Amino acid sequence: MEKIFTFTADNLDDTNFIALEFAKAVEKSGAFVCLYGDIGAGKTAFTKLVASHLDVKEKVTSPSFVIINEYLSGKLPIYHFDLYRLENEGVKTIIDELTEYSRPNVLTFVEWAEFSDFELPFNRIKIRIEYIDDTKRKFDFYAVGDEYKKLLEGIKH
Ligand SMILES: Nc1ncnc2c1ncn2[C@@H]1O[C@H](COP(=O)(O)OP(=O)(O)OP(=O)(O)O)[C@@H](O)[C@H]1O
Ligand SMILES: [Mg+2]
Repeated sequence: MEKIFTFTADNLDDTNFIALEFAKAVEKSGAFVCLYGDIGAGKTAFTKLVASHLDVKEKVTSPSFVIINEYLSGKLPIYHFDLYRLENEGVKTIIDELTEYSRPNVLTFVEWAEFSDFELPFNRIKIRIEYIDDTKRKFDFYAVGDEYKKLLEGIKH
């Protein structure tokens, strides 16, 4: 895993900027994206903004209670997981399913993937979001795998 860049958002507009650049970068190929950060850091907010830039028409909501939401109205299929309620044992039971969602040409976001204390068997992007104050957030972008390293290196920030 390699850290590719850090982006500091002073407010939601800044987050929207990096979400747009991210959307442009993944629009063609798709990506598997794990989002890390405390409750209220902005994992769902970032996902919503990226989805809006990919022309998703449906309302994007937190999948905390349903585990997965899917949005098929945009430029590519978007799958949004929230594993918070699964705990470790539960996450192990969906590892094969997660692997399926790492296929090309779909965009998958996973909140609370840290319940998996084992390595996922495929490449991915990791975004760590840190709460600084009410409106300010720090985003660290990491790549697992060369293709994602290249993709992240191409993002204007
Ligand atoms: N710069 C910013 N970037 C992202 N979110 C921001 C920013 N400033 C304020 N916010 C607000 O912070 C909140 C983040 O909540 P969000 O639901 O996205 O958190 P989360 O990380 O998904 O939490 P959970 O672990 O509960 O799912 C939103 O209300 C959002 O509007
Ligand atoms: Mg969330």
